[in-house]
Amino acid sequence: MKVLVVGGGGREHALVWKVSQSAKVTKIYAAPGNAGIAELAECVPVKADDIPGLLAFARKEVVDLTIVGPEGPLSMGIVDEFTRAGLRIFGPSGKAAEIEGSKRFSKDLMKKYHIPTAEYGVFTDKAAAEAYVRMKGAPIVVKADGLAAGKGVVVAETVEEAVEALDLIMVQKAYGAAGDRVVIEECLKGEEASFMAFSDGKTVVAMASSQDHKRVFDADKGPNTGGMGAYSPAPIVTKELEKRVMKTIMIPTVQAMEKEGRLFKGVLYAGLMIDNGDAKVLEFNARFGDPETQPIMARLETDLITIIEAILDGTLSGTGISWKPDSAVCVVMASGGYPGNYEKGREISGLDSAARQKNVMVFHSGTALRNGRVATDGGRVLGVTGLGPTVAAAIDTAYAGVRGISFEGAHYRRDIGARALETGN
Ligand code: AMP
Ligand code: GLY
Repeated sequence: MKVLVVGGGGREHALVWKVSQSAKVTKIYAAPGNAGIAELAECVPVKADDIPGLLAFARKEVVDLTIVGPEGPLSMGIVDEFTRAGLRIFGPSGKAAEIEGSKRFSKDLMKKYHIPTAEYGVFTDKAAAEAYVRMKGAPIVVKADGLAAGKGVVVAETVEEAVEALDLIMVQKAYGAAGDRVVIEECLKGEEASFMAFSDGKTVVAMASSQDHKRVFDADKGPNTGGMGAYSPAPIVTKELEKRVMKTIMIPTVQAMEKEGRLFKGVLYAGLMIDNGDAKVLEFNARFGDPETQPIMARLETDLITIIEAILDGTLSGTGISWKPDSAVCVVMASGGYPGNYEKGREISGLDSAARQKNVMVFHSGTALRNGRVATDGGRVLGVTGLGPTVAAAIDTAYAGVRGISFEGAHYRRDIGARALETGN
């Protein structure tokens, strides 16, 4: 089977790594891929959101299965286009991906079907939004309605901060058309966890639990990033909580999507806020998380292609999915300055010896080959992932990998997984 993976980040490297272990797969392409992916797949210079380009490539090479990483092409309807052309592709349709692409859509869906989430209001008029903020008071959360590359959410500690966010999103259009409309939410307290599940549109199967670290500095200080690391399992997601989340959130959501004529086939990812053993939805994503996918793929035992085929065929209920009992921890090494401005093109050393360490997988996020050498090419550069019998062991393994790698300006958090240790594991 010939497989095309769309995207070029750490999530896609982990997916390609897992797919490469399938006995069913004879050839892997990645578009556009990166320097790490290039060791396992043929990288083709087509951008992840160039749907006509991807379609032409898949047709020309007679690709049997396409797997989509990022939300952009999903929201743009890549799955609909491939399906119309008679090509197999894994991910939700454009209409189903709206659960991530429009915060208003997902909030209205949750309200209609009684899925637990923060109280909210939706506004296209700035004066009305501001009046709502002043009525509700702070803390309060302001979100651009559309896709804003993981930005576009302001957790405001004061009313003034919330009003500034409204100005930034609705007037200055910091996130373009994504800010034509805003969702304003009650600020929830608690601990966050990522809950991902496979769905064939009817059956929902939970993946192993995970948690990411969004802030750039240790102890959750500094600005938000795309994610500075992740670990799995997340001890806060107990068996009991998992059951509850499936029953009150994941299954009702997939059923709601079917009722709305938006059958959800793919990965449904709920960002949860957990407080006193109770979970509420912060947001839905219509795809694998990044960097959560790195530790998740490190732990997945079942052939990913088998799971994807079952989803496409609607036979997920008959497919067992198993996980290694080990813990996995992914530490992101980022470019100097990230999540602000940073430079690219810094040569990376130590990659080969790190990757040779036992139970270490070095997933590349933003790398490119320059004159035959691997160099930095993005804000998040590497996701060094360690596997071990306990979280503590996985942390040690991941950091041993990190210590062997260097590039000018590199920075990473020193406390990835620490929260899992506190919760006890
Ligand atoms: P989102 O993209 O909607 O998940 O928001 C990004 C981040 O903002 C989340 O991971 C939370 O840290 C925070 N956040 C979003 N919504 C809320 C909320 N209602 N209450 C508290 N924090 C929130
Ligand atoms: N790790 C957060 C996300 O993938 O959206």
